[in-house]
Amino acid sequence: MKYYLMAPGPSTIPERVLLEMAKPIIHHRTQRFEAVLGKVRAQLKQIFQTQSDVLLFSSVGSGAMEASITNFFSPGDQVIAVVSGKFGERWADQAVVFGLDVVRYEIEWGKAVDLNRLRELLEKHPSAKAVLCQACETSTGVSHPIKEMGQLIKSRSNTLFMVDAITAMGIYDIKTDEWGLDVVISGSQKAFMLPPGLSMMSVSQKAWEFNKVSKLPKFYFNAKEEAKAQSKNTTHFTPAISIIQGLSISLDMMLEEGLPRLFKRHARLAKATRESVKEMGLELWAALPSDSITAVKTPSGIDGEKIVSHMAQKYNVTIIGGQDQLKGKIFRLGHMGYTGEFDVLAMIGATEMTLKDLGHNLTLGKGVARALQVLHQELKS
Ligand SMILES: Cc1ncc(COP(=O)(O)O)c(C=O)c1O
Repeated sequence: MKYYLMAPGPSTIPERVLLEMAKPIIHHRTQRFEAVLGKVRAQLKQIFQTQSDVLLFSSVGSGAMEASITNFFSPGDQVIAVVSGKFGERWADQAVVFGLDVVRYEIEWGKAVDLNRLRELLEKHPSAKAVLCQACETSTGVSHPIKEMGQLIKSRSNTLFMVDAITAMGIYDIKTDEWGLDVVISGSQKAFMLPPGLSMMSVSQKAWEFNKVSKLPKFYFNAKEEAKAQSKNTTHFTPAISIIQGLSISLDMMLEEGLPRLFKRHARLAKATRESVKEMGLELWAALPSDSITAVKTPSGIDGEKIVSHMAQKYNVTIIGGQDQLKGKIFRLGHMGYTGEFDVLAMIGATEMTLKDLGHNLTLGKGVARALQVLHQELKS
């Protein structure tokens, strides 16, 4: 049975990228690798919509999260961390581990940042050196109002805005420079259509000023050393060579599609998913749903974990359940990266059949029909 990976990451890897990564490995201290890194660096700036360098680390996304803490702060520095789900919690916890004074802006899991509340927090904590927030909180499917948050933070010369765009970059519009985003991180296994193992971090001029006075220890994730090396198209340590070669191809694919069409495709797939879920009589979990994943409230009487395991075992479609406090309460449908209209239809169809198998009262095909209507309509316009 054909396998469909429809998780909120890792996501499917295109054949073009797989073939590139299957080539015999080259050495990284060679002109050949430097040419690849030079190309990738220029392309990443286009995707991140920034003039600043986008640094690469050979790590999963959590490594870049850690790098964003250790490279810009000193022990005792205060930061405001938006905690609206699993990944906000992780970032706040990392900041605590490294000795920062963390003001947690706790938000009910499933809700988005309230700009008035953020304004209040910024006024109450004038010495806060940063605001940390996910663009998309993958654990709940919420997208936060990053542009508007940037407007509140931009004018404060002593405050950085750090955005975890791990499930947003390359999916919907994130204008790093225009919106005043100082540090933006992402990871390879989502919209970049690669295996896990490579993370990215853009650093604004303002953030580099913070780096100059930062006293937290740094060794592996040393942004300054990486920037020095990467400006010469090499890396401080041995990089994830094959993934970077794959990235060169996935970036080609993203830029061949072009950012407007890339964002439009994700918006279209997300809309079709949301509409079909509602047509099945189910509710969306996120107050402000992102275009990368759709979190769905599990219908009463059915365990969300069972939906995930049944769909995997019976239909060979991987989706993912809720994490921590949302375990069993939601299931999450991914539609990012190398995903097209017909993948979404397969995912919706498998969801309907699974729910039917588990006793949910629905008419098979209603969700798929709704998705078809939305996709057909959106493709016309
Ligand atoms: C928003 C967000 N932040 C951070 C992470 C952590 O990334 P990784 O699992 O690559 O460490 C994830 C992973 O799903 C994520 O979705």
